Amino acid sequence: MKSYAYIGPFSELVTMQQLPLKGALSDDALQIIQQGGILIEDHRIHAIGTHKELYPVAKKLGAAITHIEGTKVGIPGLIDAHTHICYSGSRARDYSLRNAGKTYLEIAKAGGGIWDTVTQTRKASRDKLVKGIILRAKRHMRHGITTLEVKSGYGLSIAEELKMLRAIREANKALPIDLISTCLAAHMLPRDYKGTQEEYLEEMASVLLPKIKEENLSHRVDAFIEEGAFSKATISPYFKKAAQLGFDITVHADQFNVGGTEVAVRFNALSADHLEASTAAEIQLLAKSNVIAMALPGASLGLGCNFTPARKLLDAGATLAIASDHNPGSAPMGNLLTQASLLGAFEKLTNAEVLSGITFRAAAALGLKDRGVLAKGYKADIALFDTQEYREILYNQGSLQPSMVIKEGKLVYSESS
Ligand code: NIG
Ligand code: FE
Repeated sequence: MKSYAYIGPFSELVTMQQLPLKGALSDDALQIIQQGGILIEDHRIHAIGTHKELYPVAKKLGAAITHIEGTKVGIPGLIDAHTHICYSGSRARDYSLRNAGKTYLEIAKAGGGIWDTVTQTRKASRDKLVKGIILRAKRHMRHGITTLEVKSGYGLSIAEELKMLRAIREANKALPIDLISTCLAAHMLPRDYKGTQEEYLEEMASVLLPKIKEENLSHRVDAFIEEGAFSKATISPYFKKAAQLGFDITVHADQFNVGGTEVAVRFNALSADHLEASTAAEIQLLAKSNVIAMALPGASLGLGCNFTPARKLLDAGATLAIASDHNPGSAPMGNLLTQASLLGAFEKLTNAEVLSGITFRAAAALGLKDRGVLAKGYKADIALFDTQEYREILYNQGSLQPSMVIKEGKLVYSESS
């Protein structure tokens, strides 16, 4: 038996339909339905249109009707395609040290940084990690996020990486939103590993990755290509094996030094993320490829450094997605809407470009074709804001939060409850 639900009338529905994956976008390109309605069949959108045309259809189908009386703007549920919310411990000390003048790489070399979180995360039980992920993911959900990528990468041994990925899977089962897991065993060479970078990566490729496949824990592999992490040369055999095993590839690229983008393009990665240090050469490489450029404004704000050259990337013809990078070190804030709004203000991005970056372009960075757009057949994932017009959303720079969030047709958050 099919079940129908209907929501309307919206003051505006921003559908994100028929927009190109690549390049700059003007706000005129946005399809905005005034006094719109959404008819949902089970988990998916059955029809989208004006309230006038859809309401009678909904009534005829016996749909459960939610009247919102023209008080809300609806946009696709947001997609945060890059986070590290599976961790234990705080790095407030790093933040203070950075603000007192030490650099991220200096703090990492002195025993802070990623390794500090690895130590804390290894001490945590799987159950504790699950609770931490659920807590953070629910906060993202209240911010309108209905699909959330979560990386491992604070375990850095076979057993500890598996513990993290299993924790992510368990949290996913307990949450109404979708968590998409990524293996980041190549975050850095663990300090306690008795061997070279090459040996570590070889072990991860030959033992960890097949185990991840076997348990179906993830289909994505990420690596941090950077001074103090992994070089272009050492990562190549690892990515080659990951690709052979059928993993999608994504890269932490050009955060402080260039190099990662070139590898991302060579391996046809889904995305190259960070790019704060990218130059004209990397921008051209991304624009000419299908690799999605992912800006992480939360890391720029957390580290107090420049933003990803988002305007230049879009003008060159690249695809720009925007994610929070929520992690205890470089990006502790974890509020995608605030960060994407600020990136827009500093980089001079249109509403259409920012909203695309956190909806269908972010979905593409995760290889997902069933979300990020309000159109027939797509998942009924919707963020609703109490306002009359869509421009208020980014204008409020995150202080206007959704009043309702719908995931696959179900109300998963309501301000009033
Ligand atoms: O995306 N750059 C590497 N990885 C994370 C930071 C992780 C951490 O500092 O704990 C990032 O910024
Ligand atoms: Fe990251």
